[in-house]
Amino acid sequence: MSEKTTQKNQPAVADALNALLADSFALYLKTKNYHWHVQGPHFRELHLLFDEQATQIFATTDPIAERVRKNGAPALRSIGDIGRRQSIRDDDAAGSDAEAMIRTLAADNRTLLGQLKEVKAAAEADGDIATSGLVDGWADETQQRIWFLEATLGY
Ligand SMILES: [Fe+2]
Repeated sequence: MSEKTTQKNQPAVADALNALLADSFALYLKTKNYHWHVQGPHFRELHLLFDEQATQIFATTDPIAERVRKNGAPALRSIGDIGRRQSIRDDDAAGSDAEAMIRTLAADNRTLLGQLKEVKAAAEADGDIATSGLVDGWADETQQRIWFLEATLGY
């Protein structure tokens, strides 16, 4: 069937995008969680930083999902779908200290950067230049988040 030919490499790109989408939602909510619950002498600075980062992450979710659809595959449909696909772990603990939050988010953004590289590799292999181009900007934003988080820790 012709659809088999056209979809030859699309599942790899779509799967990588859906994994990225699940982790983007997981990291969005985790960053909001810390925005809401951070405490301590740097409250205001971190409360605002986490909100900026959450907003930036959330803004990528619709374009990621629409790249999945443009590749002819189904995107995520629910919170359950996110839960089954996410590799970034939730943090349901109460009372995490601010430094632990920053370290956790830096590590999680590094995980996200790794997934962006997987999307890039799949897109390049498939000749999907639109996905490949979009990933570049998302990677730059992710590296900026990592920079700000690690600079806050004094790395
Ligand atoms: Fe807020």
